Amino acid sequence: MTGVAGYPPGTKPAVFPAAWPYKAGKAATFAPHAMISSDAPLASEAGVEILKQGGNAVDAAVAVGFALAVVYPEAGNIGGGGYMVIHMADGRSAALDYREVAPLAATRNMYLDAEGNLTDKSIVGPLASGVPGAVAGLTAALAKYGTMKLADVMAPAIRYAERGFIVDAALAGSFQSNWRLISQFAGAEPFGPYRGADAVGKTLRRPELAATLRRIAEQGAAGFYAGPTADAIAEEMRKDGGIITKEDLAKYQPVWREPVVSTYRGYTLYTMPPSSSGGVTVTETLNILEGFPTLPPFGSAEYEHILGSAYQRAFIDRNEKLADPAFVPVPMKELTDKAYASKLRATIGRDRVTPTPSVSRTMREGNETTHYSVADARGNAVATTTTLNALYGSGVYVRGAGFFMNDEMDDFAAAPGKPNMFGLVQGEANAIQPGKRMLSAMSPTIVLDRDRSLLLVVGSRGGPRIITSTSQVILNVLDHHMILSDAVSAPRIHHQALPDTLQYERNGLFPAVVDSLRGMGYGVSPIGGVGLINAVMKVRGGYFGMPDPRSSGKAVGY
Ligand code: GLY
Repeated sequence: MTGVAGYPPGTKPAVFPAAWPYKAGKAATFAPHAMISSDAPLASEAGVEILKQGGNAVDAAVAVGFALAVVYPEAGNIGGGGYMVIHMADGRSAALDYREVAPLAATRNMYLDAEGNLTDKSIVGPLASGVPGAVAGLTAALAKYGTMKLADVMAPAIRYAERGFIVDAALAGSFQSNWRLISQFAGAEPFGPYRGADAVGKTLRRPELAATLRRIAEQGAAGFYAGPTADAIAEEMRKDGGIITKEDLAKYQPVWREPVVSTYRGYTLYTMPPSSSGGVTVTETLNILEGFPTLPPFGSAEYEHILGSAYQRAFIDRNEKLADPAFVPVPMKELTDKAYASKLRATIGRDRVTPTPSVSRTMREGNETTHYSVADARGNAVATTTTLNALYGSGVYVRGAGFFMNDEMDDFAAAPGKPNMFGLVQGEANAIQPGKRMLSAMSPTIVLDRDRSLLLVVGSRGGPRIITSTSQVILNVLDHHMILSDAVSAPRIHHQALPDTLQYERNGLFPAVVDSLRGMGYGVSPIGGVGLINAVMKVRGGYFGMPDPRSSGKAVGY
């Protein structure tokens, strides 16, 4: 490709609709040695502090994870779970599954009332929580791939919690807009003074959380899964009808898995296998798209049709066939196979939508979670996505231990085969069983260049939109040759098979494109947002880091 003035070789200026709020051509953060992008500036800085002390990308990722639990309580957590994909410069790679599990006392119909109708208990309150995996996951990652002591990588998080940190507009606004949930439970007291515009600039200290983090720093995972922290969780559950016990906590184990490894136009992707659906669905989508010799121009009706159709097909499989592989046989080989993708590609009409079969199952839409991307000076990379599910999870705040519990049980199919409270029908494979991991969409992904050197570290928040937002940033870089800032800022679409609608970020499509898609038979509707990305990209002489302009995150490097 010939160069364009002001753009690095191999990249092209992007064109977005005039009303799209994020302009093309902005500069990403550049640093020569290492880069971290997360949804909270202080968390990115915590990771860079560790890198500057000589830590590697895994040390830094663990530092970011604990720091997010302090400074970004809406989704950063120790009361939830997540997934980490690691690619080391020496060629080793790994996928760590520290997803929550259903408590031992969980039952298939625990969220149905006497008439068989779905209640809101999978979303709000103590019964909504799975057994948290975050602390087991972060400590396991550090033990296997890190180089520093746990107490050292946790030091920035402990410092933020003990000495306090300045509440910014994003945090004060987050407390305010989620106050209804937070104030239902014990979070009202510690966070009440820090909500709304008047709280900006105040110093928030989190002494109970600091004590919990100190226990973890001293004892490892046992500082969470046993002793006073476990007592506090079990007590909080017991008081209000929750079912997580100390036995559940003592039994929790993260799982090391083989990443899903795939190729796309000569690039290599490492991404997350089940219990997340993310890696398989991203891979299946890209395999479908790879068969088109080139993709139509970004933002054209032809492109959105092909992309939406690929997502629709991959999500039909996702919604019916994926679940915790310890409980359900998952056809990984078939779903990630290029010949299978070719068959699906052949079903995409040239200029006509294919309706999603009404028997297809679907999933809840959410817009939460948080992702961070890390790359160090040696070329080691970590992509981590972690969540409480809803912002502030179930709302339940563990008194004496200082953190929110997740509402991840809602990611199970609470009423298999029956419409849920949103009118959606979900799959049998993802039904509730004790000890089972609920299906996720989290898609932490690392892309290697054609010479197998590190290229891109990427992931997103947003429930099912994690899959569509992550894969569109990858396509924007690899197919549309955008610079990283344009790739992340670009408007995105979403299609998850059911509802059978192509959703697009408001003002993100040209009106004529919306008309053309309607003409092809699509239901088309604007939505508020598709994901929040944090991406890091290797470029000549260093790294670019790009938080999503839709969020208040920050990329920090050195
Ligand atoms: N709770 C969002 C997800 O796991 O996909």
